[in-house]
Amino acid sequence: MDAAVFCRYHAADMRILGIETSCDESAAAYLEVVRGKVALVEQVVATQAIHAKYGGVVPEVAAREHAVLLPSALAELAEKVVGKPDGPALGRIVDCVAVTRGPGLVTSLRVGLDTVRALSVAWRKKIVGVNHIEGHVEANWFSEALRERLDEDRGLFPAVVLVVSGGHTELLLMKGHGRYRLLGATRDDAAGETFDKAAKLMGLGYPGGPALSRLARDGDARAFDFPRPMLNDPHHDFSFSGLKTAVRYFLERETARLSDRRFLADVAASVERTIVEVLVEKTVRAAGSTKAKTVLLAGGVAANGPLRLALASAVAERLPGAKFFEPPLEFCTDNAAMIALAGYVHAKRRDPRSGSGTSFDQVKKMEADPNWELGR
Ligand code: KG4
Ligand code: ZN
Repeated sequence: MDAAVFCRYHAADMRILGIETSCDESAAAYLEVVRGKVALVEQVVATQAIHAKYGGVVPEVAAREHAVLLPSALAELAEKVVGKPDGPALGRIVDCVAVTRGPGLVTSLRVGLDTVRALSVAWRKKIVGVNHIEGHVEANWFSEALRERLDEDRGLFPAVVLVVSGGHTELLLMKGHGRYRLLGATRDDAAGETFDKAAKLMGLGYPGGPALSRLARDGDARAFDFPRPMLNDPHHDFSFSGLKTAVRYFLERETARLSDRRFLADVAASVERTIVEVLVEKTVRAAGSTKAKTVLLAGGVAANGPLRLALASAVAERLPGAKFFEPPLEFCTDNAAMIALAGYVHAKRRDPRSGSGTSFDQVKKMEADPNWELGR
């Protein structure tokens, strides 16, 4: 390690290793926070390609893949941070290890937790169990506008967060870091799941969200009208299963046009517009009724271009004085940097709710919580 790098390690207030294995990404990341600022973030995300041939994530297969991919991801991360694939060298500079404890696939979560248990013995480090959704929310603090404001809450809260991932669609009221109240959630399918299912019906493969969105760029978003259930209901819940069914019936009626790329692009653009309109409308109303100072976007679907643009302009036009932030694209879908950042928030406060402690006895008892809900 050269002198400059050595000094940088000394200057850091906290150095965190993050580990994420809740679904089909085996990810490891290293984060340095200096005086409330994100000073350095390095990450490795290994997406398990094997699930594409099954058209969705197979839990047992995912767990076996994590056991193979996670050690390689850690070695690759060590190479990025200390210049060689040397786990103990990485361990020497890390202050604590943050790991996703839930929600997610229980067998996948356990691989991450067991790995961290082994590291806690080998490295004698503090372990922090992190909520995966909270990780997605914290990813907003990697944005240019917020990365220097980790410890500075002035003017940001309360915030309304639109969480849109493969398994979750919910609106959270964020009163501060680590302080959440659930405002509403989907009663059936998640937004990401709806993107994926529509894409599958159109033969676009898995994961379908990004593929559908790419195709939609060439289509006419006003070509077809699909239902937008619960759009005008006074509560903050969502429902997307009716949209999925409507798309299925529509495509069954139009089988003759399924080989027409122009037609498929119009369907993709219309489905995307429908999902985006519902998400934006419900978020703006939730932010208005809670007098939120900030609107945040979180989860894999936060990578969707039209959603980012539409939410930004709706906040600017309809919520005077409110600010809008979004995670940088590389931190939207599952990654471990966001887990390290959420770990920082809890480690800094020594928050007992993170479900862990410093002693190995406590870490031994740390369990996966596949249904862990934020803010309930
Ligand atoms: O948060 P995430 O990476 O995994 C979960 O925690 O579920 O979210 C994955 C979801 C998938 O449904 C994927 O299709 C969707 O995010 N997604 C997108 C885009 N990128 C990822 N959906 C629409 N447009 C995108 N650009
Ligand atoms: Zn996720």
